[in-house]
Amino acid sequence: MSARDAGAVRARHALARRFCAVRERSVGLAAPLSAEDCCVQSMPDASPAKWHLAHTSWFFDVFVLEPFEPDFKPFRPEFRVLFNSYYNAVGDKHPRPQRGLLTRPSLAEVLDYRAHIDARMRTLLAAQGGDEELRELIELGLQHEQQHQELLLTDIKHLLSMNPLRPAYHAPGEHADAKPDPLEWVGFAGGVIEIGHDGAGFCFDNELPRHRVYLQPYELTSRPVTSGEYAQFVDQGGYASPELWLSEGWEWVRSNALRHPIYWHRGDSGWEEFTLGGLQALAPEQPAVHLSYFEADAYARWAGARLPTEAEWEHASQHSAVEGQFADHGRLHPAPAAGPGLRQMLGGVWEWTQSSYAPYPGFRPAAGAIGEYNGKFMVNQYVLRGGSCATPRNHIRASYRNFFPAAARWQFSGLRLARDS
Ligand SMILES: [Fe+2]
Repeated sequence: MSARDAGAVRARHALARRFCAVRERSVGLAAPLSAEDCCVQSMPDASPAKWHLAHTSWFFDVFVLEPFEPDFKPFRPEFRVLFNSYYNAVGDKHPRPQRGLLTRPSLAEVLDYRAHIDARMRTLLAAQGGDEELRELIELGLQHEQQHQELLLTDIKHLLSMNPLRPAYHAPGEHADAKPDPLEWVGFAGGVIEIGHDGAGFCFDNELPRHRVYLQPYELTSRPVTSGEYAQFVDQGGYASPELWLSEGWEWVRSNALRHPIYWHRGDSGWEEFTLGGLQALAPEQPAVHLSYFEADAYARWAGARLPTEAEWEHASQHSAVEGQFADHGRLHPAPAAGPGLRQMLGGVWEWTQSSYAPYPGFRPAAGAIGEYNGKFMVNQYVLRGGSCATPRNHIRASYRNFFPAAARWQFSGLRLARDS
């Protein structure tokens, strides 16, 4: 066997192990949920857990098995439309706001669909895993599934938060949190720098091409804004001060009668926060989380600062090794940032940047239906960086670009301050 062939065999075996691990984790995330939990859709932006479990299988069904499997036959032909998210090139799709109406197929049938797809995928990998194009498509399917694992958690958190019983998704356990270090400003000289994926390992098309950017001198805070700091903004009338808000943000605050972040409640002895571990006293030292772009921007203005650009954020992240928590830790809530220098650039909370989600110079979406993955969403959204306590560690990197509309606040999103030097 040539060295090249031996490398392909190793790559195939590694991918087969990773395939099983990622697919099993999705089912594991749904394990604490009842069939009723898995069916309900709490808002048009969220999807039922059952739909996530089915759609991530649909991705392998339509984009991997159909083109590569000899004598491909669909498991259930109607699933092609039912679990298509947004791929127009694939054909019709079930309307997103009506995903919660799908009481059929049952959760058991969806789990059966998953097992069926997994078995066929294992056979395909064993037979054709030497094909590099196939391996790349499978890796994309696994990265896609890891994105949906985080969405499954944020969507279930939103659903449970609407239940007056405030049910917990899990028992978070005891955590001996370190005290956060005082906020410091960390300066960078700027100049001509490079951002974008550097070519090693997987990346999405929106991280390419790597390119040069000119930065003015700037500073970032050493850690994300904490809940205690954000509570001062709330308690000092932040949500009643139009001068702090973008015009559209103020309209959003007024029309929704907002007074505080989405999962905060005023308890008898102070602020409380709904978490995946249930309702808890707000921990002032933990990073503030579940903020919209509008809230992050208003807080930054109140604090006499601004949000970083995504180029500033990515450049600074090249100087930081102190990470926050990821989904792997199982805590599913951000912990205080401790350690020297820039902390928690990766993990903890997604950090809003002031950068509109736009193509990099020279961006080219992938050919075919897969090209619809990222490029067509490059309008009316802002970039978030760094991953969160609900992101798998092996899914995130400094060049990763997440994106959401300015009013979205059910993701694990927070902020870090920036200012001009
Ligand atoms: Fe998807």
